[in-house]
Amino acid sequence: MSRFRSVIAGVGGYLPEKVLTNADIAKMVDTTDEWIRQRTGIRKRHIAAEGETTSMMATIASKRALEAAGMEAGELDMIILATATPDLTFPATATMVQKELGMLRGFAFDISAVCSGFLYALAVADSFMARGQVRSALVIGAETFSRILDWEDRTTCVLFGDGAGAVVLRAEPGAPGMGDRGIVHTHLRSDGRFTDLLYVDGGPSKTQTVGHLRMSGNKVFRHAITNISGAIARVLDDAGLNESDIDWFVPHQANERILEGISKKLGLPKEKVVSTVSEHGNTSAASIPLALDVAIRDGRIKRGDLVLFEALGGGFTWGAALVRM
Ligand code: ACO
Repeated sequence: MSRFRSVIAGVGGYLPEKVLTNADIAKMVDTTDEWIRQRTGIRKRHIAAEGETTSMMATIASKRALEAAGMEAGELDMIILATATPDLTFPATATMVQKELGMLRGFAFDISAVCSGFLYALAVADSFMARGQVRSALVIGAETFSRILDWEDRTTCVLFGDGAGAVVLRAEPGAPGMGDRGIVHTHLRSDGRFTDLLYVDGGPSKTQTVGHLRMSGNKVFRHAITNISGAIARVLDDAGLNESDIDWFVPHQANERILEGISKKLGLPKEKVVSTVSEHGNTSAASIPLALDVAIRDGRIKRGDLVLFEALGGGFTWGAALVRM
């Protein structure tokens, strides 16, 4: 069987223009800037404009990722888009991005794994590439969570925001090795017993409505620390690496306290953690590529660095990935 490595060739991000600060939210529900910052580290979030959809944001992030990779959309073989907030129930938002990019070949589909969606999409793309079935892929995380928030529920509406992030993957020959660029290893998990802790109370089959996000934040927090730590230990073990090999930790940006809890468990110094949650809140599947984009563009993450991703989301779904940039 052929074996190829999936190399991240370019990254792009997009945040909508409209900003909602903690002070703005304090005018809408009974909360304060101080409470939100102390419990989550979030200072503001971006909100999609009226008529601005997940596919529109995904298209902008994708164009930026293609530009960074020095590639044209016509060279892509596959698009995988992770979202819990698609434009329509069907067709897949990925096909809308395919059209907007002018990609007339290959195939495109969506993945639903909520906040872990980007990791799931990355792992699926890597499998296609490792077998030599596709030579280049666009992996996107894009969300308009503002449309499924209950703006009267202070326990959830303060946490989330809208945005999109994308990476272009290019296949290079050879299995992943210690020093070679590319996805080194991924580890995915899910456990369907915890639906009631984090879910949306609507959907086409059950209620014929879009619904609102519901969460028992406190319980999710405890599961997040335990499950994510387990996935990281497993991905490092499978790759034959340990914590001291990690150059950069780019976690799902859910809550500064979750980031700190996990980095502490890993023994990673604060300087190695890329945290952007204060700037845009939890953007679900978009958060890892958005944070990665920031740290590459500001020069922190460089070619050859070993980067660790992790996420946990509704389902529960969770996982971790190691990538040599
Ligand atoms: N402003 C003021 N008070 C609030 C707010 C708010 N926005 N929200 C809740 N409170 C109150 C509660 O009503 C409660 O009051 P009470 O003691 O009088 O009953 C008090 O604050 C404490 O509530 P807790 O839920 O125990 O607060 P906690 O310290 O757990 O923080 C938070 C809540 C921030 C949601 C935290 O649990 C969390 O971040 N959990 C992780 C959730 C998450 O990130 N989910 C995203 C998807 S999963 C993922 O991405 C990892």
